[in-house]
This record gives sequence, C-alpha cells and structure tokens, in this order.
Amino acid sequence: MRILAIESSCDETALAVISGSGSDWLLEKNAVFSQIAIHQKFGGVVPEVAARKHAETIIPLLTETLGENKLADIDYLAVTAGPGLITSLLLGVTAAKSLAYASQKPLLPVNHMEGHIYSNWLSNEELRKNDQNYFPSLALVVSGGHTELVLMRGHGDYQLLGTTVDDAVGEAFDKVAKILNLGYPGGPVVSRLASEGDEKFYDLPRPMLNSGDYNFSFSGLKTAVLYTLEKEKNITQEAVKNMCASFQTAAVEILVKKTIKAALEFKVKSVLLAGGVAANQKLKTELQSVCEKNNLAFFFPELKYTGDNAAMIAAAAYYKLQNNDSALRAVEGLSLGVKSNWQIFNK
Ligand code: KG4
Ligand code: ZN
Repeated sequence: MRILAIESSCDETALAVISGSGSDWLLEKNAVFSQIAIHQKFGGVVPEVAARKHAETIIPLLTETLGENKLADIDYLAVTAGPGLITSLLLGVTAAKSLAYASQKPLLPVNHMEGHIYSNWLSNEELRKNDQNYFPSLALVVSGGHTELVLMRGHGDYQLLGTTVDDAVGEAFDKVAKILNLGYPGGPVVSRLASEGDEKFYDLPRPMLNSGDYNFSFSGLKTAVLYTLEKEKNITQEAVKNMCASFQTAAVEILVKKTIKAALEFKVKSVLLAGGVAANQKLKTELQSVCEKNNLAFFFPELKYTGDNAAMIAAAAYYKLQNNDSALRAVEGLSLGVKSNWQIFNK
C-alpha cells in the first residue's frame, strides 16, 4: 500500500509518501516548505498570506514528492482536513480532491492532532514494531493551537481527558516572546534563552495545577509575565533570560505534573509527547525522568517531526487503513470539506 499525504493546516506546506504492509513500512518521501521566514515580519501567521503561499508551493512540492512515482502508483490519498486555519486547509484539501478525481483513488481525511501523535511512530522503531505492548497510552499533544491530554487505548481509539481552557502552551511561549521582543515563533528562542537564565528568579503562578481535572490554563501565566516585567525599571538581557527560564519552568511543571497524574490514574503503559512544543528540551527531560521513576515507557518525536509535516499525516492514514473498517468509514472522496475545529479525541 502506498499513500500520498498532504498537510497545509497552518504555515507549512508539506507532502509525503509512505509505503509498506503491517508494521513494515517506509517513509519514501517527506517534503516540507516552511513559511516561518515570511510570517516573521508580521509577528505571527497571517492567514491570507499563508494561503497564497500554499497555492504557490503545493504543485512544485507535489512534483518533488512524487519523484519517480506516478499518481497511478499511489493507492490512497490522505489530507489534513482540520483543525487549522480554514484558508490554509482549503488549499491542501482542494489539491487532494483534484488528485483524487484525476487518479480515481480514495481520499482519506486525517485529523492534524492525530497526525502529531503518529509522529511518534515515525521516530521510534520499538513503538512501530511492538505498539500493542504500549497501549493504553497517554498522549500529551502540545502545539501553537492545542494543549491536550489524550488517552489512547489503541489505534483510532481516543478519549480526551483534558484541554486548555484558554491559550495553548505554544501560544503562551509565542506571547511571552512577543512581550520580551524576541520575535516569532517564540518557543525556540524562549527555550534557548531559558537555558542561560535562573529559573527561580521570578516567582510565577502555576494556573490550574491543582484543579482536580486534566484541563490547563496558560493565559494567566503569560499575564503574570507581563505584570512582573512592568514593575521592572530596566529590563536587562539578564532579566530577559531569567524570565524565559522562570516561565518555561512554570509551563513545564504544569504539563509534567498533570501528565503523570493522568498516566497513573488511567494506568497507562506509556506516555507519548507530540506537537511543536515537543521540541522543548526541558519538557522532554522532565517527562523522561518522571516516566522512568514510575516505570512508564516514554516516547517523543525526532525534532524533524515535532513541527507540522505530512509524514505524520501519512503515518496516521496508514494505521487507519490497517484497520479497514474505520478507513472505509473515513473515506470521503470528493464530498470532503474542511473542518477547521475538528475535534477527534472525544469518541
Ligand atoms: O505543531 P506546530 O508546529 O504548529 C501548530 O500546529 O500549532 O507548533 C508550533 C508551536 C509554536 O507555538 C512554537 O512556538 C512552539 O510550537 N515551539 C516550541 C519550541 N519549538 C516550537 N515551544 C517551546 N519550546 C520549543 N523549543
Ligand atoms: Zn501542528
């Protein structure tokens, strides 16, 4: 089985090809065009600009991704149908529908967040070979738009345990970077400066740490950063580093404590980290250490698969197609529309 997948939910245009059978599969191609440099000067993603760039990039990237393959060599098409920016999603979905029409191949919609979870299958051979040993699993999916704790009992079997009630954690990193004039996206620069700062310097709140549920809130933490800095007369480079470290430590503590509490309550065998914020080294180190202490397996994606890409969409589609029933239900072909608020984890 060979799948061509398209991802265009935000500011990355991406295509990938996966092929194989059972647990024996191969990522044949993985092409990503990131628009970060284009949006940087606006301090965030501009939806109209993102959509135009997707329109320009998608066909050249398709030619590159297909390579030696012809459309006739592809068995299934897969596309991110949501959640994401509606104008960005439309470009990928329209391209996928056109390809499905031209090739008469089935088209499978894939949820972007489910895709992020499958970046772990791209990165960890042990998980790929023996995934049944690691279910039930708990996924912490952390990106610019989402912060979700998801109980995964098997492929395609999800229960949403908690989500953010306001800002996503990646969004909080981005907003703190904006307050500190560090540019966009905030995560990479805040975490780099944090490694040079004193994490105990500023006493920041840990909102909803003891809320008794698995929901998150990061808006108050970001506001605390703003108010604390307003009291400083002179914001030195030292103060910026200390604030990055104090903020990162607070955000990571909330994520790690809630994740491990849920992992123990639901008696999972493994914890999976996913999404753009999975690039954060402190988050990985702290989760790894707490999982080790509690005899839980811990998997995280390679850096190249933490951000948006189509390889993870292809992998999610591949596992759907292994379970024929759910794939057949999912095939929507030419009637497929975009689902900008698609929530998949509450089945
Ligand atoms: O998954 P992603 O590429 O796009 C969305 O689906 O949102 O995630 C992007 C988010 C941004 O908020 C970015 O600041 C954050 O991931 N991020 C990080 C790091 N690298 C990227 N956050 C914390 N630490 C990082 N090293
Ligand atoms: Zn994403």
